[in-house]
Amino acid sequence: MEIRLQHLVFVLAGAVTCTVLAQAPKNTVGASPQVAAEGHALFNQTCTACHGMDGGEGERAPALVGDRRFFRLSEGALYDTIKHGIPGTAMPAMSIPDDNIWKVVVFIRAMRSSASEVEVPGNVQHGNEIFAGKGACLKCHMLNGKGGTIGPDLSNIGAQITLKRLKESLTVDGAIPAGYQPIKVVTQKGETIEGVARNRDGFSIQLLDAENHLHLLDRSELKLVDESKVSLMPRNYDKVLSPDEYQDLLAMLAKQVTRNLHKKIEGDGEAGR
Ligand code: HEC
Ligand code: HEC
Repeated sequence: MEIRLQHLVFVLAGAVTCTVLAQAPKNTVGASPQVAAEGHALFNQTCTACHGMDGGEGERAPALVGDRRFFRLSEGALYDTIKHGIPGTAMPAMSIPDDNIWKVVVFIRAMRSSASEVEVPGNVQHGNEIFAGKGACLKCHMLNGKGGTIGPDLSNIGAQITLKRLKESLTVDGAIPAGYQPIKVVTQKGETIEGVARNRDGFSIQLLDAENHLHLLDRSELKLVDESKVSLMPRNYDKVLSPDEYQDLLAMLAKQVTRNLHKKIEGDGEAGR
């Protein structure tokens, strides 16, 4: 009798699991760049009454992409949120066709992922040639142990930043990050040294020049300290490279991964499903 009861429990438990699995909604549209682009357009049409354009912060709802931590990460959890809304909040159930919900989900996930996690079309081999040749990136950047040090090492750049940030790094002027402030000094003896300020305080400056020499300078020995507002990083690669060259360079950069810094665990800290 006891054995039978256990069996029954097993069978029931099995049945319940099966139903749950059968109900779990499945992505029906794939995750190609084309689908992400369609999702992007749908998002900007459908969601921006509350959320911001392109997934940024809106007047009535939080940003869905960016550097903050998100509660809903997996495809399933995002789908549920859009399909059913978030009870007790201003996030409504959206009555749009399921295929369109999936496209928006793919867009949101693509915007959040590191560049290496999304499909970036382009010829990687040709991108390598642009990096070492026409782009002259090696003059300032290290890649797998070769190159200059005045800019950051790019060997792991695909895992470190999103595709959006990667594009902006190559095309849009932004704030100069700490350690990369371009600086020109003239010493009391009249010698001019140019480079970036790796470190500085009220008394001293550590200046790295284009030949990779680090100068430790005492401010009292300097006649002039001139800090430029413009980064040494050229931000016009979408213009100096042809569209194909630029795209191939992006594809190549997105592939540069030596280790995953923030390995995301699917469903980690997740609300909903
Ligand atoms: C009527 C306003 C409104 C509209 C329209 C709207 N949202 Fe929201 N959404 C919100 C609000 C408000 C929240 C924050 C809810 C909370 O407090 O948790 C939210 C939260 C979310 C979240 C959860 C964020 C997280 O951190 O996990 C997702 C995902 C989301 N919305 C997606 C969408 C998508 C996709 C669309 C369009 C198809 C959309 N929303 C349309 C108001 C809206
Ligand atoms: C004259 C020197 C120089 C050249 C040439 C140069 N960079 Fe940079 N790059 C820098 C410096 C300095 C920084 C850091 C300061 C900044 O981001 O403004 C930087 C930042 C970057 C970043 C952002 C890194 C991050 O962690 O956010 C990327 C990506 C990048 N460069 C890629 C390239 C590529 C690709 C090329 C060639 C097509 C290139 N750079 C050419 C100097 C240079």
